Amino acid sequence: MGEAIAILSGKGGTGKTSVCAGLSTALAQDGKKVLCLDCDVGLRNLDISLGLEQAPALSFLDVSQGGYTLEQAAAHPDFPGLFFLTAPMNCPAGAIDPAAFGEMLHTARERFDYVLLDAPAGIDAGFHLAAAYADRILLVTGPDPAAVRDACRTGEQLELMGKIGVRLIVNRVDSDLIYAMNLTVDDVMDRSGLPLLGIVPEDYNVTLAAAFSKPLLSYTKRGAAAACCRIAKRIEGYPVPIALR
Ligand SMILES: Nc1ncnc2c1ncn2[C@@H]1O[C@H](COP(=O)(O)OP(=O)(O)O)[C@@H](O)[C@H]1O
Ligand SMILES: [Mg+2]
Repeated sequence: MGEAIAILSGKGGTGKTSVCAGLSTALAQDGKKVLCLDCDVGLRNLDISLGLEQAPALSFLDVSQGGYTLEQAAAHPDFPGLFFLTAPMNCPAGAIDPAAFGEMLHTARERFDYVLLDAPAGIDAGFHLAAAYADRILLVTGPDPAAVRDACRTGEQLELMGKIGVRLIVNRVDSDLIYAMNLTVDDVMDRSGLPLLGIVPEDYNVTLAAAFSKPLLSYTKRGAAAACCRIAKRIEGYPVPIALR
């Protein structure tokens, strides 16, 4: 039985989508069967970070409503084993039937090793949809105080929902900035009150890869790409040490 992993954050723009794409491709590269699902209804862009902007893709609603099957999810041409369902454009998250969504995720867990859910920012309907059925939750934050405070609040919200084992990913870590802020990644962890799963460096290749319609891991093997590969190994259960470089 596979595992559903929701990538969440309180604040927008912390890098959920980029991290979700990086982890999905890294897991597929490790030979895992992965379904990647864009839950950012209305503001979807996971297709861009996966380099699938031009590929025709079904939405998860097409599947959860029963019109199509999971086997018809878009197969990634560069990462065998990686499949993708986009978010519906014309259906607000609040109008999506959570039970049907949960049922689809249940089936997906039986057919894939990992199902990654790229959630919208905030703690509204889309957040609840992604969080409700996830086995594991990764909160993506930046090292800045506003993002850390939002991550802390989101962690509290998840606790109220009975979600345990929430782990933190600190994205866009710039060692010079951290030093200038007189901060360590441990401080970020202490302030958010959440255990750390990994850190991802500030790396302009994340934006460049998306601009050139390429998945980050196809664009470079270093920096943020290498960090995603290390986090993927930790998700798979390997004791890879946490390091910025
Ligand atoms: N580690 C990183 N280094 C540099 N830029 C990043 C990094 N992670 C994300 N970005 C950039 O930050 C912006 C927001 O990222 P995105 O993944 O869309 O965030 P979210 O899904 O949380 O809104 C994008 O322009 C992306 O290229
Ligand atoms: Mg996003």
